[in-house]
Amino acid sequence: MTHRLTGRFEAGSRWDMKVLVIGSGGREHSIVKALKSSTIVRRVFSWPGNAGVALDAELLPGEIKTHKDLGLWASENGISLVVIGPEAELAAGLSDELRRRGLVVFGPSQESAQLESSKIFAKQFMNDYGVPTARAQVVTSVEETLKAVEALNFSPPFVLKADGLAAGKGVFVCSNREDLLDAARDIFENKKLGSAGERALLEEFQLGHEVSVLVLTNGQQYQVLPFGRDHKRLLDDDKGPNTGGMGVVAPIDLDPKLKAQICKEIIEPSLRGISERKFLFRGVLFIGLMLTPSGPQVLEYNVRFGDPETQAILPLLDGDWADVLRSIAQGDVPNLHWRKEATVCVVMAAQGYPDSAVKGVAIKALSNQSEVFDSGFFQILHAGTARAGDDFVTSGGRVLNVITRDSSREQALERAYRIVEKLAWPGAQWRRDIGRD
Ligand code: AMP
Ligand code: GLY
Repeated sequence: MTHRLTGRFEAGSRWDMKVLVIGSGGREHSIVKALKSSTIVRRVFSWPGNAGVALDAELLPGEIKTHKDLGLWASENGISLVVIGPEAELAAGLSDELRRRGLVVFGPSQESAQLESSKIFAKQFMNDYGVPTARAQVVTSVEETLKAVEALNFSPPFVLKADGLAAGKGVFVCSNREDLLDAARDIFENKKLGSAGERALLEEFQLGHEVSVLVLTNGQQYQVLPFGRDHKRLLDDDKGPNTGGMGVVAPIDLDPKLKAQICKEIIEPSLRGISERKFLFRGVLFIGLMLTPSGPQVLEYNVRFGDPETQAILPLLDGDWADVLRSIAQGDVPNLHWRKEATVCVVMAAQGYPDSAVKGVAIKALSNQSEVFDSGFFQILHAGTARAGDDFVTSGGRVLNVITRDSSREQALERAYRIVEKLAWPGAQWRRDIGRD
C-alpha cells in the first residue's frame, strides 16, 4: 500500500498525531482501527467508546461528560484531530464547540446538521436547489396526515417520516391506510418519538434499489467514496422490521453514466446549497438514494459516516485515513485511490433486536485466545458489547460487525460467514443473504 501525503500539517506534528474519535458503535470502532493503522498517528483516544474499542484505543476518563469537558480535555491533551461519528453530537453543536477552542475537527457544523436533524428542513433544501426527491407535505396531526393523502392523491405504500432525529426509528413505510393511521397516532397522539415527532413529512413512496452515497467534502470540493448497499430489514429477503442496518456490501458498481448523473444532479446542487448558505461543512455528506426507473431520488441526507456502511467502505481506501480525515478537517479535499477489491460487513445482532435486545450473553469465541478466525483481511468490530470478567457480553442491539475484504464479493462473503459462524453466541441473529440481491 502506498502512502500519499496530502493536506497541510503543522511542523512537529506531522508524524505524531493524537486523534480522538467520538461515538460508541461499530462505525467508530472501524474509524479507530483505520486511524490506529496509520503511520502518522501515535495515539488513538475514544469517547465514550465501548468494550471492543478499548482494545484499539484509549478510552477517556469517566468524568468527561459534557461537550465542554471534551473540549477542555482535547485542548489540554494536544489532540491533533477530532473525528465525530454520531449525528446526535453534530446536531447538538459539538463540532462548533471544539472548533471554537481551535481544535481540528472532522464533522460539520450544527447549522449543517439540520440537513439530517430535520427532514422538513432537508426537503425544503432539496426543493430549493433542485435536488430530485419525492413529493411530500408537512403534517402535524392524524387528521392532517389523512387529508394530505387525499390532497396529494397518494396510493399505498405510504411513507411517514418524523421530522427530528429518531435513531433510525422515525420512518414508517405503511402498506395500507390502517398502518398509516397507526403510525400517525404513534407519532402525534402517543408521542412515541417525543419532540422528534412534533411534525412529520408525508412522502410519496419510491420504488427501486437503494444505494448509499458517501461524499467527503469541505462544502465545495468533494470526493465520492465507493458506493455501498445496506440491508435495512432484519430478516432475509428484506422481510421483518426495519433496523439500523444488518449488513453492507461495497463497492456497488453503477453504470458510469448513472454515476455522472448522481454527481451532476444530486451531489453538486446539494453542495451548491451548502455553499450558498455558507454552512461550514467539513466531513461526510451521506446521501441515501433510491434508484428509480425515472432516475435517482434522494431519500435522506445524513451529515456523517453511515453505520454500517463505514465498516465496509473504510477498508477499501488505498491510502491513510488519518491523512485524509485531517485534510478534510483543515478544508482540503485530497484525491483518493481505492483498492480493486470487494468488502462485506455482516452485522450480528442480539436476540430480540430490534424491539428489545437480550443483554449479558457471553460471546465465548471472543475469549478463546486460540481461536483462529481467518487468515485473510478481516475485522471483528464491536458495536454493542461490554466486559463481564474475562468475557465480552452482548450489551446492545447490534453487537458485532464482521468485515472481510477479498478479490471478489463472493470470496469476501464466504469468509465473512465462516467467521460469523465461529462467533455465534446463543440467540445471535444475522442475515444469511447479505450481498445476494
Ligand atoms: P431513513 O431512516 O431515513 O434512512 O429511512 C429508512 C428507510 O425507509 C430507507 O432506507 C428506505 O428503505 C425507506 N424509505 C424512506 N423514504 C422512502 C420513500 N420515499 N420511498 C420508499 N422507501 C423509503
Ligand atoms: N446505514 C444508514 C445510516 O447510517 O443512517
